[in-house]
Amino acid sequence: MNEREIIRKQKQDALDAQKTQKDRNVMGQFSTPYPLALDIMQYMRRILGTDDVSFIEPSIGMGVFYSAFTEAFAGGGRALGFEIDPHYFTPASEFWQGTKLEMRCSDFLAQKPDEQFDMLVANPPYVRHHHIDNETKVKLQNKVQHQTGIKISGLAGLYCYFMMLSSAWLKDGGLSCWLVPSEFMDVNYGETVKRYLMQNVQLLHIHRFKADDLQFTDALVSSCIVVFRNSKPNAEQAVNLSLGGSINNPETVRNIVAARLKAKDKWTNLFSEETQTSEPEATLGDFFTVKRGIATGDNDFFILDKDTIAQYEIPREFLRPILPSPRYIKGDRINSDNGLPAVEHQQFLFTCNLPESVLKERYPKVWEYVWQGYERGVQKGYICSRRTPWYSCEEREPAAIVVPYMGRSETSNRLFRFILNDSKAITTNVYLLLYPKPQYARCLKDEAVLTEVWQELNTIPTETLSRNGRFYGGGLRKMEPNELMRTPARGIASLLTPRRSYQHLSLFG
Ligand SMILES: C[S@@+](CC[C@H](N)C(=O)[O-])C[C@H]1O[C@@H](n2cnc3c(N)ncnc32)[C@H](O)[C@@H]1O
Repeated sequence: MNEREIIRKQKQDALDAQKTQKDRNVMGQFSTPYPLALDIMQYMRRILGTDDVSFIEPSIGMGVFYSAFTEAFAGGGRALGFEIDPHYFTPASEFWQGTKLEMRCSDFLAQKPDEQFDMLVANPPYVRHHHIDNETKVKLQNKVQHQTGIKISGLAGLYCYFMMLSSAWLKDGGLSCWLVPSEFMDVNYGETVKRYLMQNVQLLHIHRFKADDLQFTDALVSSCIVVFRNSKPNAEQAVNLSLGGSINNPETVRNIVAARLKAKDKWTNLFSEETQTSEPEATLGDFFTVKRGIATGDNDFFILDKDTIAQYEIPREFLRPILPSPRYIKGDRINSDNGLPAVEHQQFLFTCNLPESVLKERYPKVWEYVWQGYERGVQKGYICSRRTPWYSCEEREPAAIVVPYMGRSETSNRLFRFILNDSKAITTNVYLLLYPKPQYARCLKDEAVLTEVWQELNTIPTETLSRNGRFYGGGLRKMEPNELMRTPARGIASLLTPRRSYQHLSLFG
């Protein structure tokens, strides 16, 4: 590491330390480690084949990529960097004064390109969609549609807008390189980004870091590097998909013809050889509808323990048994204690449909509890503010089989375990709930069948389940309902098929 980089890094650390983790999340302020920035720059130098390169960075922070650029490109050519936050902009522009870097303190996404560059390298802000205000989102969506012809999903994070709006700053044939979360390759909102990479530019390479190889020590994301050329796409051309290690020295590389990439597919599956080629015979979704548990809007307010219930004299009619967090569920089976889950931390969901005036008059103690929520501003939250009254939660049937929707590979509990729930407890949205399809509902009321199905579900290999879920950093995996429904479940088919007569019975039952 050169002397200047050592000083730059010290300044970076001091500036980061002055911000809270929350602020950095909202602004997407997680810096690239220098060795990674240098690795990327050396890779770009290799494909560009010259030092005489102009460089633009749309979200420059303290300029770690510029630092690596000067090293990998022997000083490099003209560079331009945008930074929205004066907290980083001011010290960075002082630090880089006298170099070929020009810095502008402004919102990159609001700029009109006034110059074109040979190369763009970026670690754009990973700001989640709910931190982008509505007005900005609509403006950006229109801009993307105007420039690319693609209607971007409202669930897309800010980094997607950066990627899709940046080409106007590149020369024809210029190279663009993005260090971004890998989730766009798997999640629904990513479909539009994938379409952009296939239809609007020439995708050259995606390098995916292994899920447990965290690139950012301070942010929980698993990342990939996407490299494309600002040129018309070519369906015949090969795209490099590399996995693990570094972009210059990956553990595995696959070449895939661009025409084979489909926006609807999960691209993370394409990086390894074990990709499924044929459709499975049956999937879990053939037998179950999977739903997330309920979103209360504020678990601290709505989930009560017995002491709080006693303190505020909350009657049974306003309470529903609810499962505690998966970490308190030791085995894979929850016994019933008169309908309540036989677990250590018994909890209840508070929900009430009575208008405030009635509540105040008939249940003054309960009203006292609700009032406390008011004082905390619970009613102003996104979910509560859309309900009438705000303290009435969604009604849900309990499900006999539930699955914690996220887990870590290294914990003692198996990842994505199927839990048999004998109780009448519902769950919050940290679980996925399996509801039998109507033609199997009656059949699955038979305890022996249900137990067999539950045991069979637990034999689905973790790798099969993870392949349909999403990877995050630090070994974290998440699974959405439709992902679980797509999981192959041939064993279930054989358990339920001979009992298809239930299908007919249910028509009359
Ligand atoms: C993920 S950090 C990366 C910083 C630097 N490139 C690095 O790798 O260390 C993203 C940076 O973009 C800045 N930023 C966020 N929104 C921006 C916007 N609309 N225009 C320009 N910069 C923005 C943030 O303040 C933050 O410094």
